[in-house]
Amino acid sequence: MSAASVPSPHRKGEKVAVLFPGMGAVATTAIAGVEAIKKGLALPIGSLTQIGHLVDADGNLTGKLSERLSLAPLGDLVFGGWDPIPDDVYAAAVRAKVLKARHLEPIKAELEAIRPMPAVFDVRWVRRLDGPNVKTGTLRQKAEALLADIRGFMQRNGCARGVVVWTGSTEVYAEVGDAHRTLAAFEQALDRDDPTIAPSMVYAWAALKAKVPFLNGAPNLSQDIPALRELAEREGVVTGGKDFKTGQTLMKTTIAPMLQARLLGLEGWFSTNILGNRDGEVLDDEESFKTKEVSKLGVLDQILSPALQPDLYGDSSHKVTIHYYPPRGDSKEGWDAIDIFGWLGYPMQIKVNFQCRDSILAAPLVLDLALLADLAQRAGERGPQEWLSFFFKSPVTASGHQPLHDLFRQQTVLHAKLRSYAEAAKK
Ligand SMILES: NC(=O)c1ccc[n+]([C@@H]2O[C@H](COP(=O)([O-])OP(=O)(O)OC[C@H]3O[C@@H](n4cnc5c(N)ncnc54)[C@H](O)[C@@H]3O)[C@@H](O)[C@H]2O)c1
Repeated sequence: MSAASVPSPHRKGEKVAVLFPGMGAVATTAIAGVEAIKKGLALPIGSLTQIGHLVDADGNLTGKLSERLSLAPLGDLVFGGWDPIPDDVYAAAVRAKVLKARHLEPIKAELEAIRPMPAVFDVRWVRRLDGPNVKTGTLRQKAEALLADIRGFMQRNGCARGVVVWTGSTEVYAEVGDAHRTLAAFEQALDRDDPTIAPSMVYAWAALKAKVPFLNGAPNLSQDIPALRELAEREGVVTGGKDFKTGQTLMKTTIAPMLQARLLGLEGWFSTNILGNRDGEVLDDEESFKTKEVSKLGVLDQILSPALQPDLYGDSSHKVTIHYYPPRGDSKEGWDAIDIFGWLGYPMQIKVNFQCRDSILAAPLVLDLALLADLAQRAGERGPQEWLSFFFKSPVTASGHQPLHDLFRQQTVLHAKLRSYAEAAKK
């Protein structure tokens, strides 16, 4: 990681646009939470930038992050976004059934005022939903229209800067193809309406062209293709992804480092989830689930390093499934059956039953990522921000770097970067 330059300060009152492609459960819970916090009706629980402390090199908690770093205050954020479903944020939040009426009613006016812009949407990429609020024309025209949306939104709202956070559905599985390899090939593919260009890539292109950081909360390739890495580098724009680390993977990347530290063996790890929200419905489509599965399966190998400890981890099996089960709504239930072994190979078992709330865990990450990406952009960073791996299931790294999955090692890297920003700002 390069030495941090000094982030230019956020001036109070300067507006920052936070734009969401996809205004479903996660985005509306994040927006509603910020509005409730601004009114003093709730606490920002789970948000590092709002209530966390900086960790020093010895692991001790020091000053509050919000006092040591020049972060945009909540009052300076302006929310917007796109969705094929035309509901305003209040109606979308009611439909998502994450937050109760007693939390939504006091902020109803603020939420109703936010209406999604027409989306770049293609049912071939998300097969379980559809909606009328969409852009028409060629892919190139849609891409230019998104760019105009971002610039227009920022101008109308007097925003000095912006951040785009993909909170749209998980798209069907895709691998890097010819149209993704260079920026020139990508832009030619936009011109000829190439079907291998996913909508999320079009949003990423528009954000980068507008010099606005792009963070990806889903496992889609999106910005993680050579063409858009090239664009981020050329335009000097921060990116981050992929797939918010909440729920089961958060548990997995907490427990696996303990096994590795104590040199306990792993015979197998079976993970299953039931989830009843729209995300669960989309993930019930096997092509969307495949994108998620790849994201979820990668973590154990990197943490346990089977090549270094073949006797402990060389032969373990790992399985992940998600089942759509409507009665559970946004309250996901995740089970882990972990078969481990110790001294002389004696077997033991760990069972985890995490009854979590998906969007409640994801919302503070959305806020932290938006504020930290804005900070990094002000520090002149560009391309994938590895120090933000802490927030992601499938961290995107600079070319040639291995992703880091261990939550505690991720935390160490994150705080080293934040300390360097805090120190640079003091000089
Ligand atoms: N909640 C979590 O804990 C968590 C964790 C990791 C990743 N994620 C990912 O975050 C994303 C959002 O999750 P959610 O629970 O809010 O899902 P959701 O289904 O409630 O919301 C997704 C929204 O995206 C919209 N959408 C789909 N394609 C779009 C496009 N091309 N342009 C604009 N909008 C589009 C849908 O209409 C929908 O309103 C999903 O991809 C999910 O896998 C969530």
